[in-house]
Amino acid sequence: MTGEISEAAGADPWPVRCPHCGRALRVDRRPPDQHVGNDAGQHAGQHAGRPTTIRALSCDGGHRFDAARQGYVNLLVGRGSSATPDDTAMIMARERVQDAGILRSVTEALTAIAARTTAPRQVLDCGAGTGHHLHALLEALPAASGIALDLSPAGLKRAAKHPRTLALAWDLWRPLPVADASIDLLVDVFAPRSPAEYARVLSPGGRAVVVTPRPGHLHELAAHGLLGMREGKHRELLARMGEALGDPEEHRRIGETIDLDAEQAADLIMMGPAGHHRHRDQVLHDVGREGTRRATVDVDVTTWRRHAGD
Ligand SMILES: C[S@@+](CC[C@H](N)C(=O)[O-])C[C@H]1O[C@@H](n2cnc3c(N)ncnc32)[C@H](O)[C@@H]1O
Repeated sequence: MTGEISEAAGADPWPVRCPHCGRALRVDRRPPDQHVGNDAGQHAGQHAGRPTTIRALSCDGGHRFDAARQGYVNLLVGRGSSATPDDTAMIMARERVQDAGILRSVTEALTAIAARTTAPRQVLDCGAGTGHHLHALLEALPAASGIALDLSPAGLKRAAKHPRTLALAWDLWRPLPVADASIDLLVDVFAPRSPAEYARVLSPGGRAVVVTPRPGHLHELAAHGLLGMREGKHRELLARMGEALGDPEEHRRIGETIDLDAEQAADLIMMGPAGHHRHRDQVLHDVGREGTRRATVDVDVTTWRRHAGD
């Protein structure tokens, strides 16, 4: 997807492109008296209840994508996607974990990197889930706008809550609906990765931050269906991202032990792959019987920078 940010898109905060024709997408807003309440379930975040004003995205090629009532826009065209997004129960489990601050250190690592990036204007969260990390970044960057990409409607309607976020249903395995060299900070936390596309959309000097679990991450809960991370996965990430963006600028490991109650342990299990096939009541019962109340957070936070001359 090529093209400069057009005049039309200049009036809008987000450098997004039509998936049909690649032209700039404009944001059509609802008149103020037609606000639709944004009822993203039980989200307790600070933007709960903010009305969404996005009515549709449209381009000069005559293509139009209406926003869902909750404010996100589905840009998927054609066959849709064969990928399996997180369902509502998984997203609600993730939201409770995030609201409890259990993975706070990951969010803090991202905001620390944002603070070092010179005045980022555009932030892209690939596989944004609830939008938790993106919203924290936008709160830290008052002049920035954010794009959340995910396939999960339950995640997207939460991600859409921040007034400076554009939440888009999109499959990360496809070329991203984002203009070349338009993103100053890209984050991908525990989500699929698309290195060549990340290099394409990053602005000169822009950063991509990828967070991946290490083999020991949450190992105390592995017996309940958490997928163990293979040894060597980080090396593979370095090789794949390296082809597109060279050597990382920085690598940091977050390792800590966290205390949990049984509900939180069940949520950590249910927000991962086990959530696709297990019932929370059963998981809670098993966790309660076993008595696991501590878990290890062990993740890699790796940052690449697109050099200004690239
Ligand atoms: C493990 S969750 C991480 C969510 C979020 N980054 C966070 O840390 O809270 C992975 C997310 O990637 C999304 N996802 C999985 N496959 C995808 C794909 N092919 N395209 C877009 N999103 C995808 C899921 O729906 C889910 O929200």
